[in-house]
Amino acid sequence: MIPPPTVQRGLLTLDWSLFRTTVSVMALRIPASMTMECKKALGTDMLLEPKIRNVVDNLEGASEKTKEFVKEKKGITITQSELTVGYDHWTADEVLRAILPQDIIDEAPSSFTTVGHIAHMNLKDEYLPYKHLIGQVIMDKNPNLRTVVNKMDSIDTTFRFFKMELLAGEDDMIAEVKESGCKFKLDFSQVYWNSRLHTEHERLVKMFNATDAVCDVMAGIGPFAMPASKKGCMVYANDLNPVSYQYMLENKTLNKIKDNLKIYNLDGRDFIRKAVEDLEKSGYKRPPSPPPPVIQKGKKGGGSAAAPPSDPTLVVAPPVMAPTVAATSSSSSSPSIEDSFSFKTFDHFVMNLPASAIEFLDAFRGLFQGREKDIPEPKKQLPMIHCHCFSKTSEKPEQDVKERVEAVMGGHLEEDSVKLHWVRKVAPNKDMYCISFRLPAEIAFATTVSDKRKHEPQPELEASGSTTPSSFVPAEPAKRPKTESLV
Ligand SMILES: C[S@@+](CC[C@H](N)C(=O)[O-])C[C@H]1O[C@@H](n2cnc3c(N)ncnc32)[C@H](O)[C@@H]1O
Repeated sequence: MIPPPTVQRGLLTLDWSLFRTTVSVMALRIPASMTMECKKALGTDMLLEPKIRNVVDNLEGASEKTKEFVKEKKGITITQSELTVGYDHWTADEVLRAILPQDIIDEAPSSFTTVGHIAHMNLKDEYLPYKHLIGQVIMDKNPNLRTVVNKMDSIDTTFRFFKMELLAGEDDMIAEVKESGCKFKLDFSQVYWNSRLHTEHERLVKMFNATDAVCDVMAGIGPFAMPASKKGCMVYANDLNPVSYQYMLENKTLNKIKDNLKIYNLDGRDFIRKAVEDLEKSGYKRPPSPPPPVIQKGKKGGGSAAAPPSDPTLVVAPPVMAPTVAATSSSSSSPSIEDSFSFKTFDHFVMNLPASAIEFLDAFRGLFQGREKDIPEPKKQLPMIHCHCFSKTSEKPEQDVKERVEAVMGGHLEEDSVKLHWVRKVAPNKDMYCISFRLPAEIAFATTVSDKRKHEPQPELEASGSTTPSSFVPAEPAKRPKTESLV
């Protein structure tokens, strides 16, 4: 390896020319016809440097075998050669280690996450004096990047985007990314986007059948909503952030999605009711399920596999498990019983606001009050809810999450419909999960709804233990701005 030259450490701006260096190497001049033979004979004695064609650096250090080979072969001459390399020769990590102060090079910050052409870094305090130099090196060494930013500590607590400062390149925060076969345009400085969630986005979308109606309560710029619509689902998607709402509209056009995606800009709690009302008012009926696949004789499995069974049965995925795919969808490849119900509402609600989505679950209480006749088979007709959350408990996170959900909803989840899926670790003692469960009939048809929360005390909830409180009072949710639906 040619080491980077010794340069003055601790510079605040990058001087590329400092890296230009010349090394003297020994070379063998050989007839072209002997190339393969020589390469084989010299093996690891040859100079192996990225971007540099092989030469021999020093016969002194060569093995006896190589020295013998050179001596024996006529036509080989040893020459001296000069090799000049520059800044381009070394990786970002090598450059940073050469140039940052000695005491902070052990964890030289050469890793970053990308969103389209933007690289975002999380620089520790000790690297901040050198942030522009670090940004420049990252830009130089990654030709697909045009912008390098550093995430500051503060996050917009409601809309979940980070404050960022430009380290190098263009101040252009409008990125374009691809995920799940869809294109997304977004302003990274004003909306939430996390490429690390792509597996979770795909997992849920895979769970939906093309004939399902899906309600995404905190949709961001649409990473669940767009692919689900493209799949054929009827999707109602909402985000409180007006900028996310605008990008959802734009991304709908970008992905050529037509009428099966309705977009709202409301508080999630209001949206849940509004979406259910609007879907019903629209006269929505489940599209007929596709005919069962024709399985040719002699072919096992076949390409067009039937949809997964209708109810999840698993209870818990422990934190360290690899992500699992749940089978929760309600329709199947043959005309299903669900197709024949006259009342049709959403098959799935998605609530990805892990810091507080559980607080919004009281909106489901009494959501279908008085509709028992329309919903004769609640276990088939009531929606599945997929609610993201955090848990700091490494032992029994399923119990922790389930109890918090039940406390907010004021009733019990039906054991056989509950599944907790581990999504990712967000901090050493904090994991993100998605709890999926079918909305229980006792909560859906409840006659005491959460609007009373502001005026009533909570004794029944605390006292009731395992029974449903007669007057349910959930925790006071955080104050959120109210906005009108712009649709
Ligand atoms: C963690 S992000 C997830 C966005 C998207 N589902 C995704 O997976 O990328 C949470 C989203 O909830 C939105 N949000 C925050 N408070 C909300 C509320 N009260 N009602 C609806 N959306 C809200 C934020 O603007 C943000 O886009």
